[in-house]
Amino acid sequence: MPKWLGNAVFYEIYPQSFYDSNGDGIGDIEGIIQKLDYVKELGCNALWLNPCFDSPFKDAGYDVRDYKKVAPRYGSNEDLFRLFDEVHKRNMRVLLDLVPGHTSEEHPWFAESKKAYSCGEFKNRYIWTDSWFFWGLEGLKFIAGETERDGCYIVNFFKSQPALNYGFHECREKWQLPPEHPDCIATREALKDIMRFWLLGDKGRGCDGFRVDMADSLVKFDDAQKSATSAIWRNIREMLDSEFPEAAIVSEWSSPPQSIKAGFHADFLLDHGNSGYRSLVRDYKNGGEDNSYFKKDGNGGIAKFLDQYMPWYEATKNDGFISMISGNHDTPRISHRLSPREMSLFFAMQFTMPGVPFLYYGDEIGMRYLYRTHTKEGGYDRTGSRTPMQWNSGANAGFSCAAPEKLYLPVDTESGAPDVESQEKDPQSLINMVKDLLRLRSSNEELGSKPNFEILHSGIQGDRSFFYRRGSFIMGLNPCVNAVQVQISVQKTPEPVYSIGGCGTEKGIFKLEPQSFGMWKC
Ligand code: NOJ
Repeated sequence: MPKWLGNAVFYEIYPQSFYDSNGDGIGDIEGIIQKLDYVKELGCNALWLNPCFDSPFKDAGYDVRDYKKVAPRYGSNEDLFRLFDEVHKRNMRVLLDLVPGHTSEEHPWFAESKKAYSCGEFKNRYIWTDSWFFWGLEGLKFIAGETERDGCYIVNFFKSQPALNYGFHECREKWQLPPEHPDCIATREALKDIMRFWLLGDKGRGCDGFRVDMADSLVKFDDAQKSATSAIWRNIREMLDSEFPEAAIVSEWSSPPQSIKAGFHADFLLDHGNSGYRSLVRDYKNGGEDNSYFKKDGNGGIAKFLDQYMPWYEATKNDGFISMISGNHDTPRISHRLSPREMSLFFAMQFTMPGVPFLYYGDEIGMRYLYRTHTKEGGYDRTGSRTPMQWNSGANAGFSCAAPEKLYLPVDTESGAPDVESQEKDPQSLINMVKDLLRLRSSNEELGSKPNFEILHSGIQGDRSFFYRRGSFIMGLNPCVNAVQVQISVQKTPEPVYSIGGCGTEKGIFKLEPQSFGMWKC
């Protein structure tokens, strides 16, 4: 386990939209370098950059055309190497985004693979059927009639993203290769080669690891435990442990018991399906009531979250971390459903839970979900969460000096649009609460990633409060409109450490005002 990861608080940057240093309307690597001190002062000490590699951008860069080349719109490889140095100078870390499951249809491997009589190294780099006349198989998406090669290929996500071939756990047709086939092994080795390239950088120290896209998607027809895909990751983890023991891998898998066993150091708690994350911030049906835990008039307690979280936490607490997100480039922003007070309570929980938290750029000021934004680069309804960072109240919110129509995406110009500069001046602002919470986390080991989490009280209905202990700290959350009083047996008199809204204690009774959070030491 890389030592630094246990103290990490990540900041996710969508490079297109963070800061445009050269006035061409799109964010760039130099822009990220210029804002590193901002990220550090916020209290984050690690970055995750969404893909910044050469790409036709049909899926915002998740369609990689060249894994070893920075997309010119963001700068050059030298710029990225310089970013690594600047990050490390500040004692920070940086994860790149690794897309192992598919490439762009414009990747040179695919150009070779799709030729009429493809043979040699790349013939089986992708998954091809043995005839153009075949396009139905449960759970897999086939593309037919697009290439000279007589066969259909499988895509992992969009049509532009042909799936790389790591084999089939269960082979039902003769074109399906087992994961141990040399051509499938070659795909895995090609992935390691990409990882080494960025981990080494230009001077022997490059990035600090990877967030891994769709990490569970590698081997097709895998079993329920994803054992064949997991075997690939364990093999990759062995390589990391021996060659780059300080490198971390964080999976987009959202099943920590599987992913941590597969060798990942951390796994995200995502908004998939009926997830615990959703139960916190957007548990609603269109047009219906909103039962998100943090909604002041929601319904139900924290149990829905804990029902998913606790078994995962217990199963993984000694081997890896669960990563709670504030949101990401695929989810509506939390501000979409939550008010600033509701968001601050969410952050209070996110930053006082064990594991390794990830803050999505702009959530610290409550940037809005601009759901009417026209789709860009395959974003569709995700586009509204990818708009330019709002640095100040000046032109283009301080994101870029380009003409507004040249911007990658329009900035939020509606009244009340939050921005960093104004919030920094207001002691009661969301950004200042985020800073307070992150300061508390980094200055008290017991509030960090450690597996010292204990539930003290989880109310329902009238009392929806949630109390938990981490070492000598007790945290209490009351998301709803009525005050609560909860008896919790403690050995010592609790000393108040931090609060949002009013709270107090008296003889083992913990009192929380409506919509409040309290932290005590005892
Ligand atoms: C998950 C990424 O987060 C998302 O943005 C992307 O579109 C898909 N994977 C496909 O790579």
